[in-house]
Amino acid sequence: KKGNYDHFMQKEIHEQPHSLTTTMRGRLRDNDVVLGGLKDHLKTIRHSRRIIFIGCGTSYNAALAARPFMEELSGIPVTLELASDLLDRQGAMYREDTAVFVSQSGETADTLLALEYALENGALCVGITNTVGSTLARKTHCGVHINAGCEIGVASTKAYTSQIVVMVMMALAIGADKISTQSKREAIINALPDLPNKVSEVLKLDNEMKDLAESLIEAQSLFVFGRGYNYATALEGALKVKEVALMHSEGMLAGEMKHGPLALVDETLPIIVIATHDACFSKQQSVIQQLHARNGRLIVMCSKGDASSVCPSGSCRVIEVPQVADCLQPVINIVPLQLNWR
Ligand code: UD1
Ligand code: M6R
Repeated sequence: KKGNYDHFMQKEIHEQPHSLTTTMRGRLRDNDVVLGGLKDHLKTIRHSRRIIFIGCGTSYNAALAARPFMEELSGIPVTLELASDLLDRQGAMYREDTAVFVSQSGETADTLLALEYALENGALCVGITNTVGSTLARKTHCGVHINAGCEIGVASTKAYTSQIVVMVMMALAIGADKISTQSKREAIINALPDLPNKVSEVLKLDNEMKDLAESLIEAQSLFVFGRGYNYATALEGALKVKEVALMHSEGMLAGEMKHGPLALVDETLPIIVIATHDACFSKQQSVIQQLHARNGRLIVMCSKGDASSVCPSGSCRVIEVPQVADCLQPVINIVPLQLNWR
């Protein structure tokens, strides 16, 4: 039932503090992460030569959000594959690989075909899915249910944030015996229980985002620039705009801006720049300056209190979001971009 909400997508967006709580339930204990579905396979995963994430659409974007922290915490090289592209290329896949399949439904045809392919090639196949009893859950060697509750809206929202949180927990579990990242690990484990509260806080931007969406009604196109932990936020934000507002939108790696896209920038093109506080912050500040110099119509997403350092001239629109541990920030930053494009 969609209750007081106009449509299921809206209900599912607002449900995220709850869905994230159920995703983590019973899995965080005494400074440790326990994923029942992976514990017997962690040794094999730790010894694998690489981790390959495979998915389509939003599920692929969740894997893109996971890559930086998965590499950092596991120390294993991580690559990404769009399921259809892996199949088109018959890409390299070996017995020493761990192939992680990400799918809300667990029934996406290309993802399941890629799973068949990985099984034939002898990789350890791990599933991350929202659907107990799905083909993906049944055919993988092991995996993790994201437990976000049934997702009915066609545009994926709560599954995305829960997928990221499951991949954070997975990275913590794989990297549990790595000394060099212990303090970072502890900081993330301590921050996870409060994440649903931070999501509740960012959901309060509902009216502000409605106002922003209305101001963009006449625009032909919208760019979203992100990098580092939030490269995925740019792609996923743009995907939501395409699907829900039915407006052309491009998510781009900010580091690629000067290699072509800058040519399109003028005062008519709205651009969202994600510039929350992390190791890439100063690079994003200089991207903002360059876009400014081209008279870009800027909308900057920044951490609370950073408005004047991201937009000294005061001429951009600012979306301020709560700051969390860097690898959890994509969970917060996607929320405003899910809201109110309809
Ligand atoms: C499991 C129970 C949960 C119970 C908990 C108590 C299920 C579905 N889950 O949760 O109800 O509260 O123990 O300890 O009964 N799997 C795959 N592929 C996938 C996803 C999962 O093979 O894509 C496998 C896992 O390896 C595992 C099983 O399915 O063997 C259940 O996974 P998951 O629900 O994530 O495990 P728990 O969190 O331990
Ligand atoms: O069920 P899956 O996660 O495998 O679905 C994959 C994509 O079709 C899906 O994520 C799609 O991109 C979203 N519904 C877009 O919001």
